[in-house]
Amino acid sequence: MTEYINTLFNLENKIAVITGGSGVLGSEMAQGLLQAGAKVILLATNEQNLKQKVNKLSEFGVVRGYKCNVLNEDNIKSAYANILDEFKQIDILINAAGGHVPGAIIGLDQSIFDLNIQDFKAVTDLNLNGTILPTLIFGKTMAEKKSGSIINISSMATQRAITRAVGYSAAKAAVENFTRWMAVELAQKFGNGIRVNAIAPGFFLTDQNREILTNKDGSLTERGETIINITPFKRFGEPNELIGTILWLASDAAKFVTGTIIPIDGGFSAFSGV
Ligand SMILES: NC(=O)c1ccc[n+]([C@@H]2O[C@H](COP(=O)([O-])OP(=O)(O)OC[C@H]3O[C@@H](n4cnc5c(N)ncnc54)[C@H](O)[C@@H]3O)[C@@H](O)[C@H]2O)c1
Repeated sequence: MTEYINTLFNLENKIAVITGGSGVLGSEMAQGLLQAGAKVILLATNEQNLKQKVNKLSEFGVVRGYKCNVLNEDNIKSAYANILDEFKQIDILINAAGGHVPGAIIGLDQSIFDLNIQDFKAVTDLNLNGTILPTLIFGKTMAEKKSGSIINISSMATQRAITRAVGYSAAKAAVENFTRWMAVELAQKFGNGIRVNAIAPGFFLTDQNREILTNKDGSLTERGETIINITPFKRFGEPNELIGTILWLASDAAKFVTGTIIPIDGGFSAFSGV
């Protein structure tokens, strides 16, 4: 039984690249992959944070970090060359760089007509193009060897309107569409060994949403309370609760799974609110 499960989920010596890998969710996924035996490369813009995360994670296995802006093609190509030089191949790509851009959030005393279109463009650029560019560059090596797993990060903001976060929602909806599109494209042109899926996390308390969901004393804001009220599990997610799905999607256990968006949300997306 254990041997069977180990074979199914085996990630021993697989090479995994995580963009935004120094972030709260990305570094948690990195730890999970390292503990499952994969070698992990973190890409992120904040060099100091990146170094700290690489040091912290190195107790779990082989981990590297490269400063890399996912919107800069030269940066990605240079990281790609370094990774291929050391590890020869890439098996798993997790596109975890992304998040909100403050100016693209409609303020409490504003309406959509106050939207700053530059910030709207910035948040769609980060979340959508920041997923597409690394996929094109790292995905090519997977297409050539006809195997690999790409995992994108969507959100609960795609299916129904989440107030205030207009640009982020549009971008993540496009990420879902790109996930399905790319899954079909790669399967049709490069065979069934290469898969593209996304996870859609519900609400996890991280640096980018802590201020909007909790007060300084740790109590919930009105928005935080609204979310908990329509989350059947009545709590936010813990970052390590993403790991099981990531290991499944990355491994042969999900061999026939492509083009899917998996909610990890304590039931948020299933609940009508009534
Ligand atoms: N926290 C949540 O509740 C939640 C819910 C759903 C989806 N998500 C998504 O999960 C992903 C990770 O979010 P998180 O909560 O860990 O946020 P985070 O801010 O902790 O991590 C984001 C990471 O992306 C990096 N990054 C930002 N811009 C970059 C760029 N241009 N190039 C390279 N790296 C860049 C940051 O340095 C950071 O390491 C994001 O796509 C986010 O939208 C988060």
